[in-house]
Amino acid sequence: MTTQRIYLDYNASTPIDPAVAAAMTPFLADHFGNPSSGHWATAPAKAALEKARGQIAALLGCANDEVVFTSGGSEANNLALKGVYFARRDSGDHIITTRIEHPAIIEPCRFLERLGGRITYLPVDRFGRVDPDDLSRAITPRTILISIMHANNEVGTIQPIEECARIAREHGVLFHTDAAQSVGKIATDVNGLGVDLLSIAGHKLYAPKGVGALFVRRGVTLEPLIHGAGHESGRRAGTESALLAVGLGKACELARDRSSMERVRALRCHFWLGLKSRFGNRIALNGHPTHRLPNTLNVSFIGRVGSEILQQLDGVAGSTGSACHSGRIELSPVLEAMSVAPEVGIGAIRFSLGRGTTREEMDAVAERLSSALAAAS
Ligand SMILES: Cc1ncc(COP(=O)(O)O)c(C=O)c1O
Repeated sequence: MTTQRIYLDYNASTPIDPAVAAAMTPFLADHFGNPSSGHWATAPAKAALEKARGQIAALLGCANDEVVFTSGGSEANNLALKGVYFARRDSGDHIITTRIEHPAIIEPCRFLERLGGRITYLPVDRFGRVDPDDLSRAITPRTILISIMHANNEVGTIQPIEECARIAREHGVLFHTDAAQSVGKIATDVNGLGVDLLSIAGHKLYAPKGVGALFVRRGVTLEPLIHGAGHESGRRAGTESALLAVGLGKACELARDRSSMERVRALRCHFWLGLKSRFGNRIALNGHPTHRLPNTLNVSFIGRVGSEILQQLDGVAGSTGSACHSGRIELSPVLEAMSVAPEVGIGAIRFSLGRGTTREEMDAVAERLSSALAAAS
């Protein structure tokens, strides 16, 4: 008998929702027209593109013309950081971010450092949260942008974005947030958050890979990364894919109903309580106990190696917070920034739940963990 495969890596990627696939199908089969041409074949593609833009805008609480389509979260982040840097470098060269950002923020920052930009990487506390006072102290007259992720992909910790964005506004500095992990899981209204730029990634949201968007508040000018014809109001050249836009738009429409997240939160709590009763103080939670994404549980099996445990779980897809480099196990930069002790960090496993997760699956994973840990001891 083969063991049931269980997917608990929704923070890495989500399956395409059947309603999203259904909305996209006509654009695979029939509607091939270029949204920018001026004849009969254009109309369905153009209308679909603008409808999708409206669906994204409705989720984010912004105007349609404040949404720029991109190829995903990485491009949206790159456009925000480099776009502001190149548009504003006459007035400043300093960007503030954090030590726990995704590489799609850290690497563009490193690139800008090579061009002469100055970057401050703010520390976080042991729960992975930034202190807004540290942010205030880091701002200089040369600061042009602050970029702080909304929710962390590894541990799920949610940042005090409203407060940080308010500090940015008081200093006349633009504020960007990488919301790739938070959209669809918690509220991401751009005015509620007070942000000027916000990135989203389709494949974290039950849309396909290869599509995302950047919210750009009216009045904020960016230098495009891709120069060419005037697509996306001159902010990103290249013929738009109505197919992918429709997928992202439909996914955003579905994401406005977050009731499935309450079910997911309850499942995660059930799972955590089950693990606590089985393993007691042999496990530790990584991330903030309350300011945390409803679907994410990053748990350390103290003194064990997370990747070895995962391998023994027979078909459970999750991820670990450490990597093996040249025979040495290294903690992820996120766990390191949170000052997680090495013997705790190497035992970290991230379980990220999603719309398809069931209680039976979570109970089966808890059972398999018990067997794996009993076998190893
Ligand atoms: C927080 C965060 N930002 C950005 C990205 C990159 O998004 P994409 O894969 O769409 O480029 C990811 C994906 O892992 C992410 O988790």
